[in-house]
Amino acid sequence: MKRVKVLFCFGTRPEAIKLAPVITLLKKDKRFDIKICVTAQHREMLDQVLGIFKIVPDHDLNIMAERQTLFDVSQKVLKGMKRVLEYEDPNLLIVQGDTTTSFIAVLSAFYKKIKIAHVEAGLRSYDKYQPFPEEINRRLISHIVDINFAPTQKSKQYLIKENIPGEIFITGNTVVDALHIIVKTKKAKLPMTFCDNNKVILLTVHRRENFGAPLSDIFNAIKRILSDNNFVEVAYPVHPNPNVARIANRELRGVKNIHLLKPLDYATFLKMMMRSDIILTDSGGIQEEAPTFGKPVLILRKKTERPEAIEFRTARLVGTNTSRIIIETQKLLSSAFEYRKLVQKNNPFGDGKAARRIHKYLLYYFGYTKKRPRDF
Ligand code: UD1
Ligand code: UDP
Repeated sequence: MKRVKVLFCFGTRPEAIKLAPVITLLKKDKRFDIKICVTAQHREMLDQVLGIFKIVPDHDLNIMAERQTLFDVSQKVLKGMKRVLEYEDPNLLIVQGDTTTSFIAVLSAFYKKIKIAHVEAGLRSYDKYQPFPEEINRRLISHIVDINFAPTQKSKQYLIKENIPGEIFITGNTVVDALHIIVKTKKAKLPMTFCDNNKVILLTVHRRENFGAPLSDIFNAIKRILSDNNFVEVAYPVHPNPNVARIANRELRGVKNIHLLKPLDYATFLKMMMRSDIILTDSGGIQEEAPTFGKPVLILRKKTERPEAIEFRTARLVGTNTSRIIIETQKLLSSAFEYRKLVQKNNPFGDGKAARRIHKYLLYYFGYTKKRPRDF
């Protein structure tokens, strides 16, 4: 039987982390011929992940520019992907998530009538501007692709409700696979030390909806939490987007007990999650990882496309209002009862076997096996 040529296309840190387990697994199976195209919508943060998972791209569009706009990213990916798709002519394109890289890569493959699979399909907030532009990116992707790898039962239900045309298979989220792989295989050292008895809050922020006033509101809450609690330290790996980094440096540099850090490599970041007591974030991936370590998350957003976290009580949606962030954080700092309410035994997002399910499904899809594998 002819080998199935699969082209992966991704461009940002979270896409790389979440596709790495699938790439690693498929590469071991000779029935697949794996090609990798990175758009490099992110540069250093993408390279950190490529390095740690030892992924060497076959194509690198190298598009990142300082202060890039959605227009810049879209047109560069569209142009670059035309060339790569014509050169590789794959049987399947695999993308992940909801970035501009993912959406435009899908659009390019559609223009070439190439089959497409989407990892992490079916996340929805049903608010077109939150998160922006990701909610619309993923909705459009769902209407184009042939295979939807939905992480949870809920994401499958959203896709069914929308009457999307492709197949749907529930896999669990591949980020849990990535996390297990790295925790098992990589040693990491934190870039600083914390006082042994101190509580550590891990902070990350990068969403477009939070640029400007919401970001200042979040930082004001952090300053207040630190001044009210001298046993608390904040570790904050700052996203290099100038819309974030500039304000973070202006408002937080020099504040006692805050550690402003460069983006951490994935192994070090996971170690930081383990050392932390509370996580404040607007990140998607971190919400999915935190339950594995039993760390409560306060979500710095107004809407979420991951309702599982709220339902299974691994996170609480707090938004960006300064007082609300302070109140919710203070509850977790001062009450063991409140803290335990946000710590569960299982991770609702995955079990670390998502990549295996995707592999099995592709064998079934391309006729190597007859039996449809079982959903997560
Ligand atoms: C992108 C994704 C978002 C995802 C996030 C993960 C879109 C529209 N947004 O947002 O969905 O959650 O990545 O982090 O696809 N930069 C660097 N070095 C890097 C990466 C970024 O300097 O390694 C700076 C550059 O100045 C760049 C800017 O950050 O122009 C913004 O990057 P961009 O990918 O457009 O937006 P993100 O906010 O990172
Ligand atoms: N992450 C990392 N280093 C950091 C911050 C985050 O490796 O300094 C990882 C984190 O563990 C998660 C992913 O990056 O897997 C989340 O990326 P981000 O928050 O940028 O994007 P999102 O998940 O919101 O799309």
